[in-house]
Amino acid sequence: MANEKIGIVTGGNRGMGFETCRQLGRLGFRVVLCCRDPRAGEHAAATLRDEGSSVEAFRLDLTRAEEIAALVMYARRNLRRVDVLVNNAGIYLELGGTTVKDRISAFDARLEVVRAILETNLIGPFALSQGIIALMRDQGHGRVVSVTSAMGQLSDMGGGAPGFRLAAVGINGMTKIFAEELRGTDVLVNSVDPGWVRTHSPNATRSIEEGVATTVWLATLPEGGPSGQFFRDKQPLSWCPLPGSFVRSGFRPQCRFPHRVRNGFSAASDQRNAGRLCSRNWADVGLLRKSSLYIAVAEKM
Ligand SMILES: NC(=O)c1ccc[n+]([C@@H]2O[C@H](COP(=O)([O-])OP(=O)(O)OC[C@H]3O[C@@H](n4cnc5c(N)ncnc54)[C@H](OP(=O)(O)O)[C@@H]3O)[C@@H](O)[C@H]2O)c1
Repeated sequence: MANEKIGIVTGGNRGMGFETCRQLGRLGFRVVLCCRDPRAGEHAAATLRDEGSSVEAFRLDLTRAEEIAALVMYARRNLRRVDVLVNNAGIYLELGGTTVKDRISAFDARLEVVRAILETNLIGPFALSQGIIALMRDQGHGRVVSVTSAMGQLSDMGGGAPGFRLAAVGINGMTKIFAEELRGTDVLVNSVDPGWVRTHSPNATRSIEEGVATTVWLATLPEGGPSGQFFRDKQPLSWCPLPGSFVRSGFRPQCRFPHRVRNGFSAASDQRNAGRLCSRNWADVGLLRKSSLYIAVAEKM
C-alpha cells in the first residue's frame, strides 16, 4: 500500500524487539523485523503475520557491515521510505567474574569483550542509523528510537559492566548528535531506558509489554514532538544533571545558548558532556569505515 507506514526493528526475533514489532504491526505499520538468524527471523515474522500484521524478516547482524549496507539499500530501493527505526538489538556480556554488584569490574574487563559490546551496541547501530536517518532526512519525516539504559546516564553512572555502560553513553550521545543535526525537521530522534524487563531475569520488575510502552510511544510521536531526549516511562531523564548539592546551592552551569536551558540544566552542557565521551573518531573504527564504503559502493551500482 502506498500510504503504509514502515518500521524497522533490530533484534526483532525475541524479547522487547519482538514485542515492539508486534505493537507496531497492530498499529498498522508494515514491519521489517531484523534478525541475525534468518530462520529465527522468519519464524518470528510468521507468528506476527498469523496475528494479522504485515511483517517481513530481514537478515541483519549489526557486526556485519555488508548486512547493514544491504538493509539500507533495501530501504532506499525497495521500501522507498522508512517512518520508524527502532535500534533495539543489544548484548550484555558482563555478568560474573570479579564483580561490582554482579557486574564485571572495569579493572578486570577484557578488551576483546568491551570491543565486541561496542561493535554490537554502538558502532553497528550508528552505521545503520547513518543510512536510515539519511533516508528519513531526504523524505522529511521519521522517528528514531534507540533502546539504551540508565546505565548510560552520566548522573547514574555506577561501577561495573564498562562495555555496556560505554556503549549506552555512546548511543545517548548519538541521539543528541543526530537530533541536533536534524533540528527543525520532522525527523525526531530519541533514546529510551526500558527499565528492568523480564526478558531474561524472572526477578526483573517489568513485563515485556511495560518495557516497550515508551519505545512505541516515541516511535509514534506527533509532529513537533521532543527530539534529542532520553526517556523512561514517557518522561524525560536528564542526561547529566548536577549532583543535588550543587543544585541546592543555586549553582547553574554556563550555557552558550540560554534559550535552550530546560529544567535548570543546559542542553549545551549536556551536549558537551555527551560529546566528550563520544569524542573518539569512530570513522577510524574498521566496521564503520567498511560500512560507509559498502554503502557508497552500493549507491553507485
Ligand atoms: N531487559 C532489560 O532489562 C533491559 C534493560 C535496559 C536495556 N535493555 C536493552 O534493551 C534491548 C532489548 O533487550 P532485551 O532484553 O529484549 O534483549 P534480548 O532478549 O537479549 O534480545 C536481544 C536481541 O538483540 C539481538 N542481537 C544480539 N546481537 C546482535 C547482533 N550482533 N546483530 C543483530 N542483532 C543482535 C538478539 O538476536 P539473537 O536472538 O540472534 O541473539 C536479540 O534479538 C537491548 O539493547 C538491551 O541492552 C534491556
